[in-house]
Amino acid sequence: MESLLIKGGVPLHGEVTVSGAKNAVLPIMAATLLTCEPCMIHRVPDLSDVKFMGQILTSLGARVAFDGSTLRIQARKINGVGDYDLIRRMRGSVCIMGPLLGRLKKAAVSLPGGCVIGARPIILHLKGFKALGAKVTIEGGFARASARRLIGSDMFLGGRAGSTVLGTANVMMAATLAEGVTVIESAACEPEVVDLANFLNAMGARITGAGSPTITITGVTQLHGAEHEVIPDRIEAATYAIAAAATNGEITLRGARGDHLHAVFDKLKDTGVNIERKGTTVTVCRKGRLKPVDITTLPYSGFPTDAQAQMMALMILTPGISIITERIFESRFMHVSELARLGADIEIEGPSAIVKGGKPLSGAPVMASDLRASAALVIAGLAARGTTQVNRVYHLDRGYEQIDSKLRKLGARIKRIQGP
Ligand code: EPU
Repeated sequence: MESLLIKGGVPLHGEVTVSGAKNAVLPIMAATLLTCEPCMIHRVPDLSDVKFMGQILTSLGARVAFDGSTLRIQARKINGVGDYDLIRRMRGSVCIMGPLLGRLKKAAVSLPGGCVIGARPIILHLKGFKALGAKVTIEGGFARASARRLIGSDMFLGGRAGSTVLGTANVMMAATLAEGVTVIESAACEPEVVDLANFLNAMGARITGAGSPTITITGVTQLHGAEHEVIPDRIEAATYAIAAAATNGEITLRGARGDHLHAVFDKLKDTGVNIERKGTTVTVCRKGRLKPVDITTLPYSGFPTDAQAQMMALMILTPGISIITERIFESRFMHVSELARLGADIEIEGPSAIVKGGKPLSGAPVMASDLRASAALVIAGLAARGTTQVNRVYHLDRGYEQIDSKLRKLGARIKRIQGP
């Protein structure tokens, strides 16, 4: 297994180009199952999750070809039962269910189960399929949906923590080929849902309202091939911006969508970080001492749960008390005990972490537990004195394209080694 070895204490300087968004490209890849015609997707990040989704589509009968950051997929003939073990290994793969149901009127996927960040049910996805007239069963570890005809309807997809991103994506995809009009209330407003809707519309779907809590889908009889460029990854951009602030550096993000990052930039500004946006270029630099801030994660356009761990890494460097409240996933604080190994002082009180920041950090061996927790450990390691070894780098490779070489270009002393 590989590890990252980081010699901390070097301010990051320079430019970094933001890659395509993991959480946009995965459902877009799934959406290609809705047509037998070829689709081209550009700005595809080189990530293990993307390759994995490619394998899943191949196992369903699609032809998948990577050419640098362009991906060509043709799902001429497909079967409706996903490989149990393949799908189980990546939670995001549940979003093949909507397109399979839309195109074949039947779908079966292995239930994704929980993961380290929380329970992660798909009840709302299944509720949406039922509202379209599908019969849904859970049997032998599979969730199955089938219908003779899918009929558009009105539905409410809000849950305990608000909207569901992949649930909205799944139902929206199935509804593109339903008869009549579907209205999803309490739909997820994330930019990745908008990107998917844009791709589906380019395929001939009739979707309006994506980006708002009410999405209307007027069913069509078939979809065709399309070409699309994936939006830049807002969480990757946020991670580099936070790393620049944590190391007292100055970096320029190229190809970023600052308009997708209001909540993160607002908090960074509150801590005393300078953010300058010009088109798709964003310059981030820290001016003077950091100030503590309180953060609550929320569905978009609130502060993203996917940037919570990274922001906590910044707050442990900030003198004073910050309270970070996680409202989306119930156990997304796995990074806390690992950050403590570097010297962080954090207490968990229910859904909140009380961060007593400003204590000096010193490098240590730490264990990555999930994608964003790993990013937080890298940020803390970049700012700590001495050497930090982040083990289980495969978590980072799921969602950060070439993180070590991008950071090296920014001046970080970081290398990949064979770890324990
Ligand atoms: N939820 C339900 N019932 C459901 C579905 C979800 O109660 O049927 C709850 C979840 O338990 C959670 C909340 O709704 O409390 C939000 O979950 P959501 O369904 O929105 O998450 P997701 O669609 O499975 C995507 C991203 C996650 C990101 C979340 C929230 C992908 C592939 N994954 O997951 O990304 O954290 O939205 O923004 O798009 C990551 O990139 O590190 C990551 C975990």
